[in-house]
Amino acid sequence: MSRSAHPAGPRHADVLPEGHYSAPPADLNALDHKVWAQTVGRNADGVATVGGVDVKTLAEEHGTPAYILDEADFRARARAWRSAFGADADVFYAGKAFLSRAVVRWLHEEGLNLDVCSGGELATALSAGMPAERVAFHGNNKSPDEIRRAVEAGVGRIVLDSFQEIVRVAHIAQSLGKRQKVQIRITVGVEAHTHEFIATAHEDQKFGIPLAGGQAAEAVRRALQLDGLELIGIHSHIGSQIFDMSGFEVAAHRVVGLLKDIRDEHGVELPEIDLGGGLGIAYTSDDDPREPHEIAKALTEIVSRECDAARLRTPRISVEPGRAIVGPTAFTLYEVGTVKPLEGLRTYVSVDGGMSDNIRTALYDAEYSVALVSRASSAEPMLARVVGKHCESGDIVVKDAFLPADLAPGDLIAVPATGAYCRSMASNYNHVLRPPVVAVKDGEARVIVRRETEEDLLRLDVG
Ligand code: LLP
Repeated sequence: MSRSAHPAGPRHADVLPEGHYSAPPADLNALDHKVWAQTVGRNADGVATVGGVDVKTLAEEHGTPAYILDEADFRARARAWRSAFGADADVFYAGKAFLSRAVVRWLHEEGLNLDVCSGGELATALSAGMPAERVAFHGNNKSPDEIRRAVEAGVGRIVLDSFQEIVRVAHIAQSLGKRQKVQIRITVGVEAHTHEFIATAHEDQKFGIPLAGGQAAEAVRRALQLDGLELIGIHSHIGSQIFDMSGFEVAAHRVVGLLKDIRDEHGVELPEIDLGGGLGIAYTSDDDPREPHEIAKALTEIVSRECDAARLRTPRISVEPGRAIVGPTAFTLYEVGTVKPLEGLRTYVSVDGGMSDNIRTALYDAEYSVALVSRASSAEPMLARVVGKHCESGDIVVKDAFLPADLAPGDLIAVPATGAYCRSMASNYNHVLRPPVVAVKDGEARVIVRRETEEDLLRLDVG
């Protein structure tokens, strides 16, 4: 998440502290499809549109802030992952990125499976008609009640994350007279090149069972002995927002190594491996994510090469992209409330949301871009920081970005690539109400998650 140095040459400013910022884009009105949903553009009046609806209409009808989701783009990305992996592999959309009943229906229709990691996500999946056998249940501390509900519903797999859970799931399945399909999540010792809080396959962290020291092999031994479990495979998830495939290569090598040891020790060839999610998206025009077909080709080649070398039948592969499907499909639409130039520093632009609808900047130092969308402007670029309305100076949505210098209260600005981990991590901090998710397609906008109301807040406050 680095910034390129500011190049020499004309710039707006004496206001630019040296050396930290990208150059202003050549055209501030451009909406780069690397970061904006595919149907986004501008109409003849310069107003941004998505799915054939302009953002002023969206703001009038649905208010701001709002997450605006391009349904056609979501479906296209889901389909691209599905077809890239083909019939011999499974794509489980990671619901933690963003989940709603509409999304579940789209996934179902597009032939994807679903990864859930809580009772709430499971309930959403089942209530929208996702067949339970197409659901994988994750989590490092599933409650006995969640496990029972998942087994009763008949989920396709539970991904076991600890020695205690191996026993817990086996007992619950047996008590229900069932044999539950399970995978064991292992940590392969890969340091994914990403933010520390979202890297998950190095050993010093809470997820999975370490391969190191023979712990994963011991977990397999125990799972194979328990009648309530049918061990179908090994799972590895190395982290998030990853661009470099080499981490997956090492992970696949180590997972296949374990499959080989299992075959040698138990005479069993496990039929599946899951390589998790974590593929990066473009948050700014500087990022260069890989396409699903390149990722599918790279992963399937790695796995079959490793299996050939180990003389194993190539297992069925599954993957769990969340961000790579939903991330680029949505933007957050805000109204500008105040514009505050700070001499010699930058201009603070306050919007009507903030860290309650996008915690990623505060939490991970994530980078975003932003554009004026309610009109085109030919004003000079000004260095801006987009901040929210919360009582906290770290309430930053976009740390450094260029916006037109004529930006004024009442303008609409939008932050692209907020489809993943924004609504799903939204909070009520300062009793701010969580924004709606509005899906737009073919000239029609439909609320798929409604805006929270003060009545919603007060309903929970029973004291
Ligand atoms: N599979 C497993 C087991 C996971 O834990 C995750 C994400 C995924 C799949 C999906 O990863 P994705 O393809 O979406 O990167 N809140 C952080 C990301 C946390 C990801 C947690 N697990 C963020 O905003 O960047």
